[in-house]
Amino acid sequence: MSQSDRDQESTKPDLMALVRPVSNTIDQCQLTHLHREKIDLTRAIKQHTDYVEVLRACGCHIVQVPPEHGCPDAVFVEDTAIVVNEIAVMTRPGAPSRRNEAASIRNSLSVYRDIRSINETTTLDGGDVVRLGNRFWVGISTRTSLGGAESLAVCLSPYGYHVEPVQVHDCLHLKSACCAIDQETLLHNPAWIKASHFPDTRCIEVDPAEPMAANVVAVNGRLLAAAAYPRTADLLDAAGYQVELIEADELAKAEGALTCCSILFRSLASAL
Ligand code: GLY
Repeated sequence: MSQSDRDQESTKPDLMALVRPVSNTIDQCQLTHLHREKIDLTRAIKQHTDYVEVLRACGCHIVQVPPEHGCPDAVFVEDTAIVVNEIAVMTRPGAPSRRNEAASIRNSLSVYRDIRSINETTTLDGGDVVRLGNRFWVGISTRTSLGGAESLAVCLSPYGYHVEPVQVHDCLHLKSACCAIDQETLLHNPAWIKASHFPDTRCIEVDPAEPMAANVVAVNGRLLAAAAYPRTADLLDAAGYQVELIEADELAKAEGALTCCSILFRSLASAL
C-alpha cells in the first residue's frame, strides 16, 4: 500500500473498535490445538489493556462491552459478529460454551448497525472470516460449518459481497493462517493455507520459523503484530508496512490472537 493509499485510508470515517475485558475465568477457556498452561490473569489483563490503548492511539474509538465472567473466552469478541458498513451479522460460535457471549455484543452493535443472524442450525466463528474489500473467505474448521459459511453468504450477498468457503487444516481458525494487511494483500502461513486459495490476490508469507505470525490487525495504515514473531515483523517492515509490536503471549495461552480481541468497523454518520 502506498503512502497516499494510507493517507486516504486514514481520512475515511472514524474506525470503531469493539472490545471486552478479559474474563476472570479465562483459565477455563476452550483449547483446540494447544496444551493447557497456567494463565497469569493479571498479565493477561495488562496485555489486553495495552492492546486497547494501542488501538486508541491508532485512532480507534473504543466501544467497551461489559465483561462476561461466566464466559471464559468472552474477551475474544471477534468470533461473535461480522460487521460491514450495511449490517452486523451475529454468528453462532462452534464451541457451545461460547454462545452466551453473543447477547451483550448484539446489544452494543445494535446502536451502530441493523442486526442479522446466521441460521441457528449452523456454526460460524468470526475468526474464520477473512475479508479483502468485498470478498470474504470463510474457513471451514472445527468451529465453522459449511452451512455457517452459506448462511453468512445469504446475509452479505444482497450488499454486493462475495463469500467463498475454504477448508482449514492444522490450526484453529482461518485467521490463524492468514489475515488481510491492506486492501489488496494477505499475510499467510503457506503450511496452513496455500496462496492458490486466493486468486488475483497479493500474498506475503510469514517467516517459516513463525507459523502463528499471520494473525495481525490492520488499523488505519498500521499493522499490530505479536511481539513473539519478530522475524515476520522485520519482513513486513522491509515491505514498507508500519508495524507496531504488541506483547500478547499470555492471551495466546488461551488460543487467542490479536484479531480475536476486537471487532473493527467504520462509524457511519447515520448511525451515530
Ligand atoms: N480459546 C479461544 C477459543 O477457543 O475460542
